[in-house]
Amino acid sequence: MHKLIIANWKLNPTTLDEAKALAEHINEISPYEVVICPPQAFLSSVKYRHVGAQDVGTEVKGAFTGQTSAAQLASLNIEYCLVGHSERRALGENDIAANEKIKKLLQYKIRPVLCIGYATSVEQDELEVIDVLGLQLKNGLNGVDPAHVIVAYEPVWAIGSGKPATPEHAEQVALYIKTKFGVNKVLYGGSINSSNSEKFLAQHNVDGLLVGGASLLAEDFNKIISN
Ligand code: PGA
Repeated sequence: MHKLIIANWKLNPTTLDEAKALAEHINEISPYEVVICPPQAFLSSVKYRHVGAQDVGTEVKGAFTGQTSAAQLASLNIEYCLVGHSERRALGENDIAANEKIKKLLQYKIRPVLCIGYATSVEQDELEVIDVLGLQLKNGLNGVDPAHVIVAYEPVWAIGSGKPATPEHAEQVALYIKTKFGVNKVLYGGSINSSNSEKFLAQHNVDGLLVGGASLLAEDFNKIISN
C-alpha cells in the first residue's frame, strides 16, 4: 500500500494563474500517492493526478448559502476531502458536524480525511492528549466504518509553528488510533518540510503526511514527495 502525501494549500495562492502554475510545477511521478487540496474556488481548474478539497458542507442541496456539497465535489471527480481541520474547528466546527460531513462524503465515494489534534502547548501530559484525541475520534467516527476514513493527526501547536512533533511520538499516536479505533491509515501533519519528512515516512504506522506551508513551495514539496 502506497503512503499518502496530501498538500493542503489552505487559502493560497491568490490567483488562478498562480494556482495553475504551482500545480504544474509539482512532479506527477512519485513513489507516494500525492494529492493536492487547492482552495475551493480553484478546485475545478487545478489539474493534478489526485485532487482533494479542504472542506465540504453538511447538506446536499437547498438554501445553504456559501456551502459546497459532497455531491458537487463528486461531480468534479474530487477523490479526497479534509474534515475537521484545526483551522475549521477554531471557527466553530465541532465533532458532530465533522461526523455529518464524513457520512456525506462516504455516500458520494469521496475519501474523508478526518483531522484531529489537541490544544496549544507542548506541555500537556500524555493522558490529556489521549483524552482529547479519543473524544474527537469517538464522535467523528460515530456510525461510520473506520476502515473507510483516513485520520490525520496534527498537534495544534505543531501546525505552522516550525516545531513538529517527534517522529516517535507520531508513530505512538498512529498506533493508538489504529488499535483503539480500527482506522487503517493515519497521516501526520504539522511543520513537515523537506528536511524532516523522511523520518516521519520511515515510521511503520505513519502512513503518510499532511503538508501545509511546505506544499506551497514546489521545490520543497517535490523533495518531500521524491524521498
Ligand atoms: P503546516 O500545516 O505544514 O504548515 O504546519 C499543516 C496543516 O495545517 O495541515
